[in-house]
Amino acid sequence: MSARAEQRVRSLRQQIERHDHLYYTLGQPEISDRDYDALMRELEELERAHPDLADPDSPTSRVAKGLLTGFPTVRHTAPMLSLDNTYSLDEVAEFDTRVRKGLGRERIDYAVEPKVDGVAIHLRYEKGRFTLGLTRGDGERGDEITANLRTIRSIPLRLTGRNVPDLVEVRGEVYMETAAFQAMNARRAEAGKPAFMNPRNATTGSLKMLDTSEVSRRPLQMFVYQLLHADRHGIETHLEGLALARKLGLRVNPRNSIAHGYDDLRAQCEAWGDEWGSLPYGADGLVIKVNDLRDAARLGSTSKSPRWGIAYKFGTVEAETVLRKIDLQVGRTGVVTPVALLEPVLLLGTEVKRATLHNQDEIDRKDIREGDRVVLEKGGEVIPKVVRVVPGTGRRGPRFVLPSTCPVCGTTLTRDPEQAAVRCENLYCPAQVRRRIQYYASRGALDIEGLGERTVDQLVDAKLVEDPADLYDLTVLDLVELEGMADKSAGNLVRGIAASKGAPLDRLLTALGIRHVGNTVARLLAEHFRSLAALSEADEEALLEIPGIGPEIAASVVAFFRSKEGRSLVKRLVERGVKGKAPERRAAAAGPFAGKTFVLTGTLGMPREEAEELILRGGGRVTSSVSKKTDAVVVGEDAGSKLDKARALGVPTWDEPRFRAALREAGLRVS
Ligand code: IVH
Repeated sequence: MSARAEQRVRSLRQQIERHDHLYYTLGQPEISDRDYDALMRELEELERAHPDLADPDSPTSRVAKGLLTGFPTVRHTAPMLSLDNTYSLDEVAEFDTRVRKGLGRERIDYAVEPKVDGVAIHLRYEKGRFTLGLTRGDGERGDEITANLRTIRSIPLRLTGRNVPDLVEVRGEVYMETAAFQAMNARRAEAGKPAFMNPRNATTGSLKMLDTSEVSRRPLQMFVYQLLHADRHGIETHLEGLALARKLGLRVNPRNSIAHGYDDLRAQCEAWGDEWGSLPYGADGLVIKVNDLRDAARLGSTSKSPRWGIAYKFGTVEAETVLRKIDLQVGRTGVVTPVALLEPVLLLGTEVKRATLHNQDEIDRKDIREGDRVVLEKGGEVIPKVVRVVPGTGRRGPRFVLPSTCPVCGTTLTRDPEQAAVRCENLYCPAQVRRRIQYYASRGALDIEGLGERTVDQLVDAKLVEDPADLYDLTVLDLVELEGMADKSAGNLVRGIAASKGAPLDRLLTALGIRHVGNTVARLLAEHFRSLAALSEADEEALLEIPGIGPEIAASVVAFFRSKEGRSLVKRLVERGVKGKAPERRAAAAGPFAGKTFVLTGTLGMPREEAEELILRGGGRVTSSVSKKTDAVVVGEDAGSKLDKARALGVPTWDEPRFRAALREAGLRVS
């Protein structure tokens, strides 16, 4: 045996292992496939010429020779449990409460990880060598699939790093990326082989094959999601455990994160709602884990699942039921919506009896009719919806067509040209009246206790109220006439209604039900105008000065306060003492920007965003159009019409040196 050959073989193995790690684990290859193949070929040739240099962990030996005879079962060193699932953030909040109670702690740090949709595996490394790979099996015993796992290039055959512990055990997920899965199915189709249903099925099937050379051609990948026996490695938190695994050369999902307390956790869960579709692999939710391992151990497990973690699933679940009837509902703004009345069915623990069908287009597209068997879908935060009709079942009614007149007041309906919606334009339509008053009293608006939907229905039916202002004329004597209304509750209701007179202005503005004015816009309007009277006089230009208010909102607000109905309602409310309490003024900052409004125009020697940010930090505001209320226009190079307008209105203009001087004076530094 030549010492040269031995040295070269060792060097080649090291190089290939390093490139495998760069390519498969980190996704940052340094050499071309061709150069990699050349290294591999050279190694194969040398190993063939020098059989004495054989090594079971050589990169050439990922594929076992011949067929496997089966997969023996092996007992897990610790049971492999599964996680409790939830589909709703409310239940995530309950999980957090349980954890905090269990630990007697105010705030918990959680690891938040994509729940990769694949197959759970257990890996053991002894003295740095990959010696055992198991499936979950029944949780107590798993199938020994070491030979198949060895073919997965992101599972290192040898751990790396200086102080590799004698025993390392990790758990993780083997999966296929969506694109690789599709390409594999396309290749199979060409070869006349059946396609796999989904990446998870393909992964399960691949791991159970007896021909490892075939397994090695499947695009399998692996992420480690847990380091076992972390205490033996002096590790205190779950994420530190994963960091150690990464240091040892194992592949860990880079999208894992930490959430400090429930608010952060919730925000991260919500942020994932828009993002998970962009992952290159299927993920059906997030796994949330108590990060502190001592805390996790204290919480322990039930026989099925740990108390330290939960899977928050994004997905939806489906159920089948019969659509009994299509009903029509007239909303607060007059939009007429078809609603499916269903044979009650359980979905994610709630009984579903109704589902919106949105509009005629939606009904036509899905060809939904009374009597159909339909598939419903619901996610945790999502309102149930009818996804499709089950073909060939049920006694179908005729094609459903929305009526041309309002089902409540008979007014001819109009079709919103921009939307698929149809609308009843009669502001006095009893259905709209009802909904407006219900909305006025609702939680998000004036939150009048005791004034629920049923009571509003009774009041409208008895012709006691036609608009929210009438509420303030109600007496206990009026109310006790209503069925089921005791003296005491009548008294409480009158008091509750009276109390709403002193509600904050933003709540009142929300309650008016102006189109496009929800809580957030209402707050902006309240802070800016500070009284109902001031807001009702404002024109669109004045509204557009408020950051966050665009032309559509401005037009809608002005239209409301100029309409006969809007004016009359506001007047009658004010006469009854409903004014809306002005929000407290925020302490004004001092300095040249405090409380002032600026417009930027032309090109400045700093990015526009930075200039805006600095003004905001100095307590000022930046708007996009110049008006009399603008305190100064900051003028850069090539300024155009805004400069003209400032001059015409006599608004002060600042050139860049003047602006920079003001920034300095306010202690704000330009980067
Ligand atoms: S932790 C007690 N973390 O989801 C089980 N699981 O029931 C602890 N999964 O089949 C599992 N990604 O294979 C964990 N980042 C992740 C995961 C993950 C996917 C799978 C796991 C198991 C199921 C949870």
